[in-house]
Amino acid sequence: MIDLRSDTVTKPTPGMYRAMCEAEVGDDMAGEDPTVNALEAEIADLQGKEAALFCLSGTMSNQLGVRLHARPGDEVLIHETGHIANYEGGAAAALSGISCRTVPGEGGMPGVDDFTPHVHADAVYLSRTAAICLENTANMAGGRVWPLERLREVSSWAWDRGLKVHLDGARFFNAVVAGGGTPREIAACCDTVSICFSKGLGCPMGSILAGSEAEMHAARRARKLFGGACRQAGVIAATARYALEHHVDRLAEDHVHALAFWNRVSTVEGVSGSAPETNLVFFTLAPQLPSPREICERLRERGVLMEPAGPNRVRACTHLDVSAEQALSAADAVVAVLNGR
Ligand SMILES: Cc1ncc(COP(=O)(O)O)c(C=O)c1O
Repeated sequence: MIDLRSDTVTKPTPGMYRAMCEAEVGDDMAGEDPTVNALEAEIADLQGKEAALFCLSGTMSNQLGVRLHARPGDEVLIHETGHIANYEGGAAAALSGISCRTVPGEGGMPGVDDFTPHVHADAVYLSRTAAICLENTANMAGGRVWPLERLREVSSWAWDRGLKVHLDGARFFNAVVAGGGTPREIAACCDTVSICFSKGLGCPMGSILAGSEAEMHAARRARKLFGGACRQAGVIAATARYALEHHVDRLAEDHVHALAFWNRVSTVEGVSGSAPETNLVFFTLAPQLPSPREICERLRERGVLMEPAGPNRVRACTHLDVSAEQALSAADAVVAVLNGR
C-alpha cells in the first residue's frame, strides 16, 4: 500500500527505535528525565523562547496554549479551517471554557482586515477577545506557508491590541524548510508555539509547546490536569531528538514529491487546485468526475490510500514513508482512475 492519507501514518525507523532503546530516562513529572529536559532546552533555544514543555499530542500542546491565553468565557479568533476550532473535539470549550470564533482568510492565513471586524469591544455582554490562533503550515488550506511579513504584520497588530498569539505549528518545520523563515523568526511573531513530532518528522507520538518561563510553568500545571504528565517520557522524547537531527532537512524531499504528484494529477481535465507549497496536496474534482469517496475506494483497490477532504476535494499527503517513485505511481493511479481506466 502507498499510504498518502496523512503524514501521521509513518512508522519509526530503525535509527529511531535505537534512539528509544538507548534513551536515558527519569521521572519527568518530577522534572528528572534528562532526555525530555534536553529536548525542551533544545526547542526553546531553537525558537528563542525561554522554555518549552513536552506534550503527548498536538491537540494537547495547542489546548495548553489556548488555555494560557484566555479565561473561561473568553474567545480566541482563528481561521475558519483552523485545526484548534474544527478538529480537536471542541476541546477549548470543553476543557477551558473558551470559545473559538472563526474568521475568513485567503489560504488559511487571515490578515489584519480579516481579524479586525471580529475583535469584541470591552462590553459586559460580549465575550472578551483574548487571543488569535494561527496555523503554519495551514493544513486544510493546502499546507500553505505563512509569508514572514504577513505573520509579522498580524502578530504586531494583535499585540498592539493586547491580544496573545498562539501558533499551531503542527508542521512548523515544513514551513521552515519551505522558506517561511527561521524557527526564531517565526517564533518571534508568537507568544506560544506548538510543534508536532508525529507528523512529517516521523515520530510515533509527541509534541512540544514553547513560550515564556511563566507560561510554561502554568502549562506544566495544566498538562497534569489534562492527564498529560508522564514519567519516563524520555523514550518518546528521544524519538523527537532523533528526528530533529535526521528528519528536518529531508522534509524538502516530501515537498518535491508532493509537487511531482500534483504535476501529474493536475493534467486531468476537471481537476483543479493549486500547486502545493509543502507536503499536502488538495485537488478539487469537477462534477463530471466521480466523487472523492468513489475515487478513494477505487484507489484502495489499486493499493493507494487517500482521503476525501470535503464533498469534492481529495487530500494526498507525502511523508517519510513515501518515496519519489511511490508518489509518482500513486499519481499515475489517480490519473487512471479519473480517466475511468
Ligand atoms: C494543523 C494540525 N494541528 C494540530 C493537530 C493535532 O495533532 P494530534 O493529532 O497529535 O493531536 C493536527 C493533526 O493532524 C494538525 O494537522
